[in-house]
Amino acid sequence: VFDVGIVGASGFGGTELLRLLARHPSARVVVRAAASQAERRVGELAPNIPAELGDARFEAVDLDALARTDLVFLGTPDEVSLELAPGLLAAGVRVVDLSGAFRLPADEFDRWYRRPHMAPGLALDGATPAVYGLTEFNREAIVTARLIANPGCYPTATLLGLLPLQELIVPEGIVVSGLSGTSGAGRSTREDLQAAIVHGDVVAYGAPLHRHTAEIERQLAGGAEGRPIAISFTPHLLPMSRGLLATISAQLLPGVGQAEVDAALVAAYSHEPFVHVLPAGTFPRTKAVHGSNACQVSAVVDPRTQRVLITSAIDNLGKGAAGQALQNANLMLGLEETAGLDAIGVYP
Ligand SMILES: NC(=O)c1ccc[n+]([C@@H]2O[C@H](COP(=O)([O-])OP(=O)(O)OC[C@H]3O[C@@H](n4cnc5c(N)ncnc54)[C@H](OP(=O)(O)O)[C@@H]3O)[C@@H](O)[C@H]2O)c1
Repeated sequence: VFDVGIVGASGFGGTELLRLLARHPSARVVVRAAASQAERRVGELAPNIPAELGDARFEAVDLDALARTDLVFLGTPDEVSLELAPGLLAAGVRVVDLSGAFRLPADEFDRWYRRPHMAPGLALDGATPAVYGLTEFNREAIVTARLIANPGCYPTATLLGLLPLQELIVPEGIVVSGLSGTSGAGRSTREDLQAAIVHGDVVAYGAPLHRHTAEIERQLAGGAEGRPIAISFTPHLLPMSRGLLATISAQLLPGVGQAEVDAALVAAYSHEPFVHVLPAGTFPRTKAVHGSNACQVSAVVDPRTQRVLITSAIDNLGKGAAGQALQNANLMLGLEETAGLDAIGVYP
């Protein structure tokens, strides 16, 4: 049994990791580190965690205790991950970082996050770079990685929809609309996330320079023979707790139709345990993946405009954060990739 630590265990990503790891066959949580919530009982912030584990308390960050683990999940803000990751790696611990700290080359991080990268050697273009943890497209590198940059929630849904179809679409004019529940913003007390404000309302935010735009473009550019790809991305906040839907509209190359699109999705995902392709004309829904590590994808061609509409649904805390982090950790530890991740979504 592997010993794992979580820093940011009191956050939404952290408590989701506690839930998934509570039933993991070969990993156990031995460190639950937090900041302002240190000393509180786990069960107070995560009442879903069974009592035998919920009675444990969050603790302040103790680097020595973390250094004794096999792997640490960082469910922390970017700047905290930038501070902690180098020391943990130096102590020989594998790290899966849920933040945006290591998902871009250092100069792009500087531009999109508007501050200098504090550990450029670990950025995507660094001397010992992090491995981008979109599992389905990067498995080989993840198995031997020491540091995983776990993808953002919008990039996960968008890339799982777009990457298989890259060679079939025109690289310009891609429009992505993202819709997310409020847990995507973390356990925050922000005024604009209060129930009274959010309920009964839908609003766009962050466009046109949301940070996930850079992350998505970077991964698309790597895959399509280095063609630069610009996307137009608009996230929206929805009055629900969990769930994330991406709808993506892209121009198809001349002559490409539904058959080619279907074939590309089947080729990419027919052997994948977590990505489920729905037939064209049926649409993924967030509830069906709620609480799971699944992603539902479908793509329908509009011959009138020669565009393809791809939709992709994930649980932002599942495949969009903690689920995918555990999927990657399983690979890094030489375990079954699906261990601890066998829950299916709920309905209705
Ligand atoms: N929520 C999502 O859907 C989602 C999806 C993908 C990626 N992410 C990323 O995952 C990370 C965590 O997100 P979240 O939603 O879980 O955020 P969150 O609910 O706000 O939790 C943040 C966590 O970080 C801890 N923390 C803050 N400063 C710290 C410090 N100096 N030392 C140790 N711990 C510290 C907090 O501890 P206290 O609460 O004890 O202060 C809390 O446990 C973020 O980088 C986020 O961008 C989130």
